[in-house]
Amino acid sequence: MGGKVTVVGAGFYGSTTALRLAEYDIFDTVVLTDIVEGKPEGLALDMNQSRSIEGFETKIIGSTTTAEGAGYEATANSDVVVITAGLPRKPGMSRMDLIGVNAGIVRGVAENIAKHSPNAVVIVVSNPLDEMTFLAQIATGFPKNRVMGQAGMLDTARFTNFVAEKLAVKVGVVKTLTLGSHGETMVPIPSRCTVNGKALSEFLSQTEIDELVDRTRNGGAEVVALLKTGSAYYAPSAAAARMAKAVIEDSGVVMPVCAWVDGEYGISGVYLGVEAQIGRSGVVKVVESALTQSELVALKAAAQAVRAKQADVQTL
Ligand code: LAC
Repeated sequence: MGGKVTVVGAGFYGSTTALRLAEYDIFDTVVLTDIVEGKPEGLALDMNQSRSIEGFETKIIGSTTTAEGAGYEATANSDVVVITAGLPRKPGMSRMDLIGVNAGIVRGVAENIAKHSPNAVVIVVSNPLDEMTFLAQIATGFPKNRVMGQAGMLDTARFTNFVAEKLAVKVGVVKTLTLGSHGETMVPIPSRCTVNGKALSEFLSQTEIDELVDRTRNGGAEVVALLKTGSAYYAPSAAAARMAKAVIEDSGVVMPVCAWVDGEYGISGVYLGVEAQIGRSGVVKVVESALTQSELVALKAAAQAVRAKQADVQTL
């Protein structure tokens, strides 16, 4: 393997993602940036000092950046860029409450990234996720397949965890799926949820499934409320890092991501949570699977809601 990945933003989400990527030991270089002077350099130094203990050779480089673009030279010619820049939620806030402030930050970052890494695959994790992914595509001017967002991997992982805990089974025997937005119109897909290969409905009542679906939809807010400052980062960083890994390995693995949908499910012209095959070019293709009528209706409603918000974002 080899190659270079940049993680923009050295908060908990970004730094945890950078460390996970370094510990995979598949990249030559992980670059971590932040606007807080010295923070990315300090974290990189610390991470590099863990290499001999954890047994990985990937070099981590920290670089302080400015909104004007200073410091981005260190990110030049990255193969993959993960954008975590932006503010996290405070207790009581919805992801959508961040749209104004994070749009300015994400737009600036995306423009600088496009200048220095014109061939990168970009993975956006800043919130509100679906809108920031769309904005990053506009600001980079990259083909839509080369810009995607992280959400479905995380929401699916949360759903899986809740099901496993409820049934007291290993997470490894539970398969779940969520599509739609990373927010109010998240669409869990119970017809694709199984335990040991058997339908979830054989183990749980509709009410119980609905409760877990609700908890999944509010999974981020539940963590925010407990932490009081900042939002979740262990599960989110695991999800983002796996996406970057799939890109650099050109693995072709199918995962739920926020991708540009152009006709699949009868939906067009929107960044939305769907299953997609991930490879060196980013989204190789959106994978459409059979949904029940009510799941399809919910996915279309999610597309409508996200499309309206994505239209707003163009002017931010
Ligand atoms: C969450 C944030 C990161 O869902 O969107 O935890």
